[in-house]
Amino acid sequence: MAPSSYTRLILQERPKGMINAKTFRRDEAPVSELSAGPGQVVVKMVYISLDPTQRIWMRDEPSYLPPVQIGEVMRAIGVGAVVKVGPNTNLSPGDYVTGFLGLQEYAVVPAQQVHKIDLVPGTELIDFLGPLGVSGGLTAYFGLFEVAKIKKGETIVVSTAAGSVGSLVVQFAKQAGARVVGITGDDDKARYVKNELGADIVYNYKKPSWKDQFDDQVGQADVYFENVGSDITDFMLTRLKTFGRIAVCGVISEYNVEEGQNVGIRNYIQICLRRLRVQGFIVTDYASKFPDAYKEIGSWLESGSLEREYHVVEGLENAGDSLNLLFTGENKGKLILKVAEPGGEKV
Ligand SMILES: NC(=O)c1ccc[n+]([C@@H]2O[C@H](COP(=O)([O-])OP(=O)(O)OC[C@H]3O[C@@H](n4cnc5c(N)ncnc54)[C@H](OP(=O)(O)O)[C@@H]3O)[C@@H](O)[C@H]2O)c1
Repeated sequence: MAPSSYTRLILQERPKGMINAKTFRRDEAPVSELSAGPGQVVVKMVYISLDPTQRIWMRDEPSYLPPVQIGEVMRAIGVGAVVKVGPNTNLSPGDYVTGFLGLQEYAVVPAQQVHKIDLVPGTELIDFLGPLGVSGGLTAYFGLFEVAKIKKGETIVVSTAAGSVGSLVVQFAKQAGARVVGITGDDDKARYVKNELGADIVYNYKKPSWKDQFDDQVGQADVYFENVGSDITDFMLTRLKTFGRIAVCGVISEYNVEEGQNVGIRNYIQICLRRLRVQGFIVTDYASKFPDAYKEIGSWLESGSLEREYHVVEGLENAGDSLNLLFTGENKGKLILKVAEPGGEKV
C-alpha cells in the first residue's frame, strides 16, 4: 500500500562540532500533496549521498554554494526514480535521475536540474553516487587528471585513501601508471587500500612511526591529493619535490571546528621554497566535461577493473548520526543512506 505521508529533514539548528539531535527536525508531509508543476518532476528517492561538504553547507558562511537556511530541507545529492512529470519536461515516469534532491523521501524539482541516469552494463543505481557520482568518482577523476595532472611514473600521495574520493583516486592513479601512496587512519582500511585497491604503499597516520617509514620508503613525492588538512598537510608540504603539485580537494579536519579554531598551515613557506603549485577545485568547475568522465569511468566499470565499496545505512532518521561517521572515520568506502528499495518506485 502506498504511504500516506513522507519524511523530510529540515535544518533546525546549525551544529557546533558534531551533528546532534537538534540539528535536523523531522517533517511529515502528505504524499497526496506531491504534484509536478510545469517543468517539474516528482522524484522518489532511493539512495542519498552523505558527504563531508554537507557540514560546510550547514555553516552560515560564504562558500561555493549558499548556506542551507534554517527551516529549509537539508541539501543532499541523491538518486531516485521519477514518479510524476509536469507539462514541458523531457523525463518520463520510471526514469532514474540524480542531482540535488535533498534529505527527504520525495523531491519536487525542476527537470532541468537533474541528470538522467543511463544504467550501462556493469553499473547499478548506487554507482551513480559512487564511481559515477559527482561527489565521488567525478571528483576523483577531475582532481587527478585536470588539477593534479598526474603523469605515468610519478609518485602521488592520497589522503583519506579508503574513502569515497580517495579510494577512486588511488585506482585511477594506478591505471595512469603512477606510484601510489595512500594515507588512512585505520589498519583495516590500510590493508584494503593496499590489497584491494592496489596502492603501492599505505600508512596509518595514527601510528607515530608513519613519518619515519615514509622517509625510508618514499622520500619525496611529485603530487599530494589533499583531502584532510592539519598535521598531514604540514608534513606533506615538506615532502614534495621542487615544483611538486597539490590538488586541494578538501580539508575535512576543519569542517567541524569553529572559526579561528582551525589548526591552519605552519609550513606555508614550503610553497615558496619548493615552488609548489597548489590548486583548489570544486568538481562542478568541470561540469561541461562530465559526459567524458561518465564515458571513461563507465568503461572501467564495464570491464570490471574498478573496486567499489559502499557503507550503506538505512533510514532517513539515521542521517545525522551517519554523517558523523565521516568525521570519526568509521565509514569505509562511500557512505550512503538508503531510503527505498531500488525498483519498487510508485508514489
Ligand atoms: N572539491 C570537491 O569538489 C569535493 C567533492 C567531494 C568531496 N570532496 C572532499 O573530499 C574529501 C573526502 O570526502 P569523501 O566524501 O571521500 O569522504 P570519505 O573519505 O569517504 O570519508 C571521510 C574520511 O575522512 C577521514 N577523516 C575524517 N576526519 C579526519 C581528520 N580530522 N583528519 C584526517 N582524516 C580525517 C576519515 O578517514 P580515515 O579513517 O582514513 O581517517 C573519514 O573516513 C573531503 O575533504 C571532501 O570535502 C571535495
